[in-house]
Amino acid sequence: MTDTPPPAFDFDEIIERRGTHSLKWDMMERLYGLSPAGALPMWVADMDFRAAPPIRRALADYLETGVYGYYGDDSDLLAALDWWQSTRHGWQGIPGEAVFHVGGLVNGTAIAIEAFTEPGDGVLLFTPVYHAFARVIRAAGRKVVEVPMQLENGRYVMDMAGAEEAAAREKLAMVILCSPHNPGGRVWTKDELSAVAEFATRHDLLLLSDEIHDDLVFSPHRHIPTALAAPEAEARLVTMISATKSFNIAGGHVGHVIITDPGLRERFARKVTALGISPGAFGMIAATAAWSPEGAAWIDALMAYLEGNRQLFDAGVNAIPGVRSMPLEATYLAWVDFSGTGMSQAEIVERVEKRARIATNHGPQFGAGGEGFMRFNLAMPRARIEEAVHRLEEAFSDLQ
Ligand SMILES: Cc1ncc(COP(=O)(O)O)c(C=O)c1O
Repeated sequence: MTDTPPPAFDFDEIIERRGTHSLKWDMMERLYGLSPAGALPMWVADMDFRAAPPIRRALADYLETGVYGYYGDDSDLLAALDWWQSTRHGWQGIPGEAVFHVGGLVNGTAIAIEAFTEPGDGVLLFTPVYHAFARVIRAAGRKVVEVPMQLENGRYVMDMAGAEEAAAREKLAMVILCSPHNPGGRVWTKDELSAVAEFATRHDLLLLSDEIHDDLVFSPHRHIPTALAAPEAEARLVTMISATKSFNIAGGHVGHVIITDPGLRERFARKVTALGISPGAFGMIAATAAWSPEGAAWIDALMAYLEGNRQLFDAGVNAIPGVRSMPLEATYLAWVDFSGTGMSQAEIVERVEKRARIATNHGPQFGAGGEGFMRFNLAMPRARIEEAVHRLEEAFSDLQ
């Protein structure tokens, strides 16, 4: 009898996160009124999986030093970032001086808004889109200009004619591109990225490309960095990347802003200095260890596992009459359209949260076009996905 070798990475393992200061688990009761004793948290985008071995080793070694002073010398991180972007995404030769380290990509977005726009300026978003963009834009006294995406063969496309109308109507200064897109999971093609870059150029807008989901792409789709798809837009392009989403180290609160144009760089640098921003050691050490060959093997295994979760979840919810999960090309965030049930948003929420006891992000949070949708985080052990599907079937069983 031969022993089956243990799996290289055990994504099935149930890890107790309650009582660990987990936003997803330990704030669920306060935010949703759902007890973590029995409810399933499928909202905020982090994963219930253990981080990749090289990250855990690097952090353990650092912890072992017992000294946690200021972080300095980012040369290892810059080399890892350059290696990762060139081997995984084909973006070669990112100069070290083009990279800023910030406290995460919401922080990077906020700095970019301060650096490149004025109070009252419009910032264009293709909605529905990651909700923190609108929150940050509004809090900075800028105007959110929503251009709802259109559905083509069941997947989102950016409405470039709608963007033109918005540009004619509003005083725009910036467009924020979410690439790959959250929610809906589109991986934009080179032509789609070029069209947005061309639009930004024509209207002299800053183009902020948030590529935090760049590694979370399902085969056969391929993420193309905007810097490669539209090199002609370099003078207006600011790209944001991070290891935190792909590698489940969001608590490290670090992200990287890449600006190859020296003029834009100077404006961004001034704001970084004005706000006194510098990176935390734990996030920088974790990110450096993540962007490695071992990290790459972990991501490949993760995506294979997530593919199984996605198939299981989609098959289950798509069998409920009037419910449809958008086919994801990227991200682990299922975007589910309940509008075919004819129910109001309030009734959908009531059934998903109170009957199924699942915490999700509500569609309207993501802006125009989100009505009737709920977003479910699928990055959890498969047994929990099975449980979620079972609970949703029950909660909508009268429709069968
Ligand atoms: C598109 C996008 N940008 C940024 C973030 C959050 O970034 P951070 O945790 O680095 O602030 C998320 C989190 O889900 C996201 O989906």
